[in-house]
Amino acid sequence: MNPLLSRLHPYPFERLRALTRDVVPSPAHRPISLGIGEPRHATPGLVQEALVAHLKGLASYPATAGDPALREACAGWIARRYGVTVDPATQVLPVNGSREALFALAQTVIDPTRPRATVVCPNPFYQIYEGAALLAGASTHFVNSDPARNFAADWSSVPDSVWANTQLLYVCSPGNPTGAVMPIDEWERLFALSRCFGFVIAADECYSEIYFRDEAPLGSLEAATRLGLSDFKNLVSFTSLSKRSNVPGMRSGFVAGDAAILKQFLLYRTYHGSAMSPPLQQASIAAWNDETHVEENRAKYRRKFAQVTPVLAEVMRVGLPDAGFYLWADVSRVAPRGDDVEFARGLLAQYNVAVLPGSLLAREAHGINPGAGRIRLALVAEVDECLEAAHRLAAYCKALPPQPVPSNDLL
Ligand SMILES: Cc1ncc(COP(=O)(O)O)c(C=O)c1O
Repeated sequence: MNPLLSRLHPYPFERLRALTRDVVPSPAHRPISLGIGEPRHATPGLVQEALVAHLKGLASYPATAGDPALREACAGWIARRYGVTVDPATQVLPVNGSREALFALAQTVIDPTRPRATVVCPNPFYQIYEGAALLAGASTHFVNSDPARNFAADWSSVPDSVWANTQLLYVCSPGNPTGAVMPIDEWERLFALSRCFGFVIAADECYSEIYFRDEAPLGSLEAATRLGLSDFKNLVSFTSLSKRSNVPGMRSGFVAGDAAILKQFLLYRTYHGSAMSPPLQQASIAAWNDETHVEENRAKYRRKFAQVTPVLAEVMRVGLPDAGFYLWADVSRVAPRGDDVEFARGLLAQYNVAVLPGSLLAREAHGINPGAGRIRLALVAEVDECLEAAHRLAAYCKALPPQPVPSNDLL
């Protein structure tokens, strides 16, 4: 067996299952889960129709590079969305959802024979980053998010000695779970560090199309172009249809950026066998070429968040995120002893609502777990179900015994 497999951590949901095994969910309430970040709005008809219309494609092996028409559709979408020109032949590759690609990129770019191979990850983070780093033979360095600065990662806390060994940096903007969008000055700083130390930036942008501010989230390719770095050296962006078009089961996305890296990535993927099924390629083309369903989807999330967030804001510290479909709520003042896991267990027992304790989405780093005292609420169900969950959460919080006020609040 590959000994690196033993370095993997259990997935947050596995840990949650173990931590709630002895909890009997309230039989008086029908179960509601705000735990899993799986889109549940309806898949658009045009995607389903394109899939069915191209079933004959099952008769042939697909190319790993994808049909040129798919790469063109992706490049066309990038041009419309970000005002950025990429060459569909060399700067775009289809992938089977961003998850496998985020994992596979690490296997492609990391040289484990170099001393102290390091992957820098935000904290909290999407756990695939860590697993990808460990299985590639690297170690992780976590950068905590700072709630006082809209959950920005504190890149300045990373010493040059760590950057010097860094081969890959994962960035998630809009972030999961925080929803924070990285501004251009942060990108500028990261591009400068990447140029100085030579590491690759993997920009995970799978939540880019669900946002609550007027302005669409800045993309990494867009930031690079604005900063005059249009060769995208050492930059690979990851975009997905799962959330944008409500097709998490389709497993479709693309990467775009540095042509030299994508050439090697294509080589890796050819051996790994990561080609996308032809009917799914055609359904993906239909999805990338249509924005109407994306606008409707976004409007639906906006209405839902506008209704649910105020109900929760009465009982916990929570605000509308920049983007994404999560609320990253601070329950440290209401949870028993500020403990997010205890909070989630009690909520399940009393109200049959499942939420993800924030501490399971982060690692203890630099003396703290930046997810502790928080919960992640995925508002993916229809609005009535999310509202029902919010009202149960409010009732639960109101009935919790008052917690001692932290001493720094008394100053
Ligand atoms: C931050 C982040 N990146 C990537 C993914 C993977 O999405 P997909 O593989 O469906 O594109 C997810 C899924 O939940 C996610 O939360």
